[in-house]
Amino acid sequence: MRTDDTSHPTTRRVNGAHRQKQCRSRRSYRWVFALPFGSIVVLFVLTLMYLPPSREDAPTHVVVRNEPPGVTLLIWWRPFGNREPLPDCAAKYGIQGCTLTEERCAYDRADAVIVHHAELTRNWSALPRAPRPARQKWIWMNFESPSHSGWLAGLAGLFNLTMSYHRGSDIFMPYGYLQPRGGDGDAPQVRARRGLVAWIVSNWNEQHERVQYFRRLRKHIQVDVFGRAGQDLISDSVTRTVSRYKFYLAFENSMHTDYITEKLWRNALVSGAVPVVLGPPRENYELFLPADAFIHVKDFRSPRGLAAYLKHLDRHPALYQRYLTWRRHYSVHVTSFWAEHYCMACRGVQASRHQNKVVTDLAVWFES
Ligand SMILES: *[C@@H]1O[C@H](CO)[C@@H](O)[C@H](O)[C@H]1NC(C)=O
Ligand SMILES: *[C@@H]1O[C@H](CO)[C@@H](O)[C@H](O)[C@H]1NC(C)=O
Repeated sequence: MRTDDTSHPTTRRVNGAHRQKQCRSRRSYRWVFALPFGSIVVLFVLTLMYLPPSREDAPTHVVVRNEPPGVTLLIWWRPFGNREPLPDCAAKYGIQGCTLTEERCAYDRADAVIVHHAELTRNWSALPRAPRPARQKWIWMNFESPSHSGWLAGLAGLFNLTMSYHRGSDIFMPYGYLQPRGGDGDAPQVRARRGLVAWIVSNWNEQHERVQYFRRLRKHIQVDVFGRAGQDLISDSVTRTVSRYKFYLAFENSMHTDYITEKLWRNALVSGAVPVVLGPPRENYELFLPADAFIHVKDFRSPRGLAAYLKHLDRHPALYQRYLTWRRHYSVHVTSFWAEHYCMACRGVQASRHQNKVVTDLAVWFES
């Protein structure tokens, strides 16, 4: 066991003040918005759990005396060796009552233990050996897709809560989401973007559908490729690079329900480019984004059709502009690994403290 590994710097323990009142209604968040798409007006209803609190939501006229329970969360190992200081959830996200620790001696008193999947697959035997204290919850945390997550079948019956990008997770954490702006923003402008289509790719794999699609697409349209398999990023920055382009290929490495990553949220949307997505079906994207915020490769019969459409939008700024209209009403939030995840996990443990659950079908559920 690495329990007595003393090579790590002293763990930070952050104890949030337990005093402030917290609004329960923050945990459930409802967006209702309507936008024109073609000649139809489509109504989207999207409910996302566990959005970070926003001040506007706090009722000012009702005094809610609902102190969150103090919760100690043991992070069994750091995801991919990340060593950033553990966050103060109260200061950073307004979530009170969280004590985060990676000191394994806290195992006996921890309310929950977070186990990140990637390290688990490498070292199965390094899970806590001591019996699980009554009431303690083990949280399975994973943000890779099933294609890149081994060992799933071996996890049946081991965990109490799941945390992933999958909507069916007990603690649902998408890679990003839209936040309603208060009131209408300014009409977004087509900024001077001389480049047409950009793509950043680090893991170049000929077996990946995205590489095959790219090879066919570039026969019909210029695509500037950056990253390990292409040019260097401008100023070493994803957003600076992509913000010179009108379109960004937000191509996922594998196709799975809800597996919509920072390629969409950060690379494309934060950079202000219109995403051309390859991933789960359009309907799945539409649970996260307005239908006219993105272009789906499956909207076209072939890469050639897509190329022709992108060129058409390039020649017709008013049509291109339609893909930016949603920005008047929403801003983009990209979740920050791993601080935000730990704090949302804490909130999830607080919310489910009276609940008993064993995740018996983890593989089946996660792969669905
Ligand atoms: C896996 O965990 C065991 C028990 O904690 C430890 O002895 C071993 O060194 C670990 N192996 C790796 C590859 O981390
Ligand atoms: C957590 O899961 C274990 C089985 O893996 C189970 O024995 C225990 O009762 C569960 N605890 C809670 C609080 O649900």
